Amino acid sequence: MRAVHTVKEVREALESAKEIHLVPTMGALHAGHEALLRTARKESGTLVASIFVNPLQFGPKEDYALYPRSLPLDLEICERNGADLVFAPPAGEMYPLPQLTFVDVTRVSEHLCGKFRPGHFRGVATVVLKLFNIVRPDRAYFGEKDIQQLAVIRRMVSDLNLPVGVVGVPTVREPDGLALSSRNKYLSPAERQAAPALHRALREAVARIRSGERDAAVIRQAAVAVLGESPLIRPEYFEIVDPEDLQPDWTIAGPVRVAAAIWIGSTRLIDNVAI
Ligand code: PAJ
Repeated sequence: MRAVHTVKEVREALESAKEIHLVPTMGALHAGHEALLRTARKESGTLVASIFVNPLQFGPKEDYALYPRSLPLDLEICERNGADLVFAPPAGEMYPLPQLTFVDVTRVSEHLCGKFRPGHFRGVATVVLKLFNIVRPDRAYFGEKDIQQLAVIRRMVSDLNLPVGVVGVPTVREPDGLALSSRNKYLSPAERQAAPALHRALREAVARIRSGERDAAVIRQAAVAVLGESPLIRPEYFEIVDPEDLQPDWTIAGPVRVAAAIWIGSTRLIDNVAI
């Protein structure tokens, strides 16, 4: 495995590569990222991981400066999971000039996290398109844990006719249901103990739907009550949405995605389930 830091080095390293698979990450790698790498490694071809904490997708009051960075350990994890090349650019390599060009995937970006993190998905879509143009992958792998991100990227690829196959990978969880996230590192022991309530609340919504409830407001109320059992949790949103365009569904008639965000202390966690 090779680690490179410039666009020029990536281009040279991939010059004669036949089929390229890309796993974009912000580092602080955990078993969720490893699942993406392992899914991609099953295919023949060259496996590229990118590690870049993208300033463009963080709001001014968000955790860009604090975001965990652990490159030496991340490189070991990439190597262990079969990566051939790691692209870990400094910010000045990705943004040598102030970025004036952006990708805005409207509608799909509007609800859920988009409502509470203005500009976030614009930053995500823009950096992912840049990574696609630098690495020129045949396939790129994203986690279902960030379901709105996956929907935004699928729509960008379709709207802009990008020659990239987007592969969604199921969410990897701790045994108690908590979805793995680089931000779980921020949780105190008491907060960590409270955190699985997020997944329990999602499961409560699934149980209500399975038992025949079709009114989204009733389902949401029951799920938010589960979150209310912990004084450490402040719900941000809890929504039942269309799985493709993520618009809210008021009555459940077909497949839906149940998605939620909570705050525990100063840490924001998200999760979602399909039904
Ligand atoms: P990051 O948060 O590092 O996540 C990188 C990829 O890992 C994303 O596709 C994310 O959905 C996936 N992932 C994270 N936790 C997961 C879990 N528990 N199970 C399965 N997959 C999981 O998402 C980003 O970085 C950035 O926004 C990025 C796409 C790299 C653009 O900057």
